Amino acid sequence: MSWLDELEPLKQQALAAFASAQDLTGLEQAKAAWLGSHGRFTGLMKQLGSLPKEERPAAGRAINAAKAELEQALAERRRQLELEAARPRVPFDFTLPGRRRPVGRLHPLTQVVEDIVRSFRRLGFAVADGPEIEDEYHCFDALNTPADHPARDTQDTFYLPDPPGRGGRWLLRTHTSSVQIRVMESQAPPVRIIVPGRVYRRDNADATHNPTFHQIEGLYVDRGVTVGDLKGTVEFVFRELMGSDVRIRFRPHYFSYTEPSYEIDFSNALTRKMGREWLEIAGCGMVHPVVFETVGYDPEVWTGWAFGFGIERIAMLRYGITDIRLFYENDLRFLHQF
Ligand code: DAH
Repeated sequence: MSWLDELEPLKQQALAAFASAQDLTGLEQAKAAWLGSHGRFTGLMKQLGSLPKEERPAAGRAINAAKAELEQALAERRRQLELEAARPRVPFDFTLPGRRRPVGRLHPLTQVVEDIVRSFRRLGFAVADGPEIEDEYHCFDALNTPADHPARDTQDTFYLPDPPGRGGRWLLRTHTSSVQIRVMESQAPPVRIIVPGRVYRRDNADATHNPTFHQIEGLYVDRGVTVGDLKGTVEFVFRELMGSDVRIRFRPHYFSYTEPSYEIDFSNALTRKMGREWLEIAGCGMVHPVVFETVGYDPEVWTGWAFGFGIERIAMLRYGITDIRLFYENDLRFLHQF
């Protein structure tokens, strides 16, 4: 019976060793010392074979029960130590109310651009981009704008002091129309693009002007394109953007890069509330054959339309904003409203 007498004190020692392990590493060491292949408890089990045959069944049951108890104690202690290891080092009050993360939102101008882009995407248009620092060639000459045109005047355009490049003087683009040229120079027809972007003019800031503002340009080139396509497209996009009560009117105008050219007038409940039946919002027309020739498109084969409008103008109409400068002040009281 001496062998079985050893079992109980040995088990108690092992339980005490597990209980006193201070961390997971300590516990693993205790496990190896007692239950590992050279552990003291394992050593006891190895002696089982040396017992007289009739004692072996009872001894086997006793040792298995003890081993199960040790393993359970080990698992329990491991769980405790794991929990402790995961506890925050610094005391933390879990009953504190949560910290609310303020939800940001997109600037109203960005929202308008994204909505316009979404409508045009549905019609198969892709977004194109071009430089804000442009040369005279892409901003004016290639758009058939003569050297003496007032838009080219230093009163209206910001010119850069750098020496002229191949495309003439450097300037801040006055409109996104320059990207029409850059796109046609770089790809063969057909073309379906829209170009949202920032433009610059030497205007004094007031309620309806700012020296920096945004435009969106559209260009569609294919065989057999008509004014009907232009009108249908513009109407579709504005109805999506501003609601189904929108009416659109084309008024003859002049742009050097389109022939015929129009200004687009817009009317809905909002313009009437502002006391105006019609509000001018865009310029457009059929791409001038000279422009096609300049970029190397055959004007006998290719036809197209183009338009450009101011994004601020549309955002002001859409949200009933009466001063353009609000868009640039970054006043959260204003921005939170959109
Ligand atoms: N670039 C003109 C502007 O800034 C707008 C414009 C008119 C764009 C006619 C066009 C166009 O593409 O065909 O006022």
